[in-house]
Amino acid sequence: MPAEVLSIHTPALFEAAVTRAAALLRAGEAVALPTETVYGLAANAWDPAAVARIYAAKGRPAHNPLIVHVADPDLAAACAAHWPPHAALLARAFWPGPLTLVVPRSPRVPDIVTAGGPTVGIRWPQHPFMQAVIRACGFPLAAPSANLANRLSPTCAAHVLAQLGDVLPLVVDGGDCNVGIESTVVDVTGPVPRVLRPGMISAEAILAACPPGTGAPDGDHPPPQAGSTPRSPGQLDLHYAPRARLTVGTWSNEAELARLLADDRIDPARIWIVAHSSVPMSGRFPNVVLIPGDPEAYARALYGELHRCDEAGAERIVVEAVPEGTEWAGIADRLRRAASTVAS
Ligand code: TXA
Ligand code: MG
Repeated sequence: MPAEVLSIHTPALFEAAVTRAAALLRAGEAVALPTETVYGLAANAWDPAAVARIYAAKGRPAHNPLIVHVADPDLAAACAAHWPPHAALLARAFWPGPLTLVVPRSPRVPDIVTAGGPTVGIRWPQHPFMQAVIRACGFPLAAPSANLANRLSPTCAAHVLAQLGDVLPLVVDGGDCNVGIESTVVDVTGPVPRVLRPGMISAEAILAACPPGTGAPDGDHPPPQAGSTPRSPGQLDLHYAPRARLTVGTWSNEAELARLLADDRIDPARIWIVAHSSVPMSGRFPNVVLIPGDPEAYARALYGELHRCDEAGAERIVVEAVPEGTEWAGIADRLRRAASTVAS
């Protein structure tokens, strides 16, 4: 049966959708909900059978842990064995928001959520609908991005419906996600916070929220750095990929771009160029996507554009490389993964 789809753009619709989503979640179902980063596929984090539905729906490997979503400090504390000092600082600075804190796990969090590991990722999302559902439920929601494993994250309800519409009871349509790429994941279990997955809260902003001196390099735990991405358990390179083969390149004119594509022998009609500064205008490349040149707007637009390239039948996507810099690190990371063909 196709998923029920509920909109939330009036107070009455919002309330009705909260009630419906919370009822399904209490009954042990997994449902797709909007968050400010990407859409999540949520289930009761205390209930291993409910969480198993998430893995089944996504085809997600069991070794990849889930993020638990909370909407108040007590619920966050209930998920953690204890709350490290950097967790307190970063939560105060960035919650609610697109930041996931990896902390020692409370025994109450089932193994299936953490993939058996000793830590749990916790996020207090900023999206008012997600917050309202968590409050109505009274339990935390385990929620990965609401896409099939190894595919692009959804940033609107249509993306969720295209991948999971036949297997979910409910998709709540909150419109386009405001951030557009997944949260920054930071491990705060060690002496220095470590960025495991860069995002729109930059390593620099994280360091700035920590006491002076936190950045001092420290053997096993280098300070958070833009562009450096230590491994998260189960974090596959092949994540976040569109169907079309994607490469990232730089060119200063169309001849250079044509040279980048010279070996491909693909019909130019099947090639999509995603550019933010050096935009081919001659018509030699019929499919050109102009994406905004500031990082926030770029992140908001990126997955939607890649989804559109896939839907349009692109065989090849060439994305103009983004600038260096900490505010671009999350975007550069997702482009690197989207370009990867190696599952590790
Ligand atoms: O913005 C987001 O984070 C979205 C929304 C729905 O909140 N969620 C999301 O979940 O992106 P997912 O499952 O697609 O990605 C979670 C990432 C994975 O790379 C996972 O390995 C990592 O977080 N992760 C989760 N728990 C972890 C843990 N205990 N230690 C290290 N990494 C962890
Ligand atoms: Mg994901």
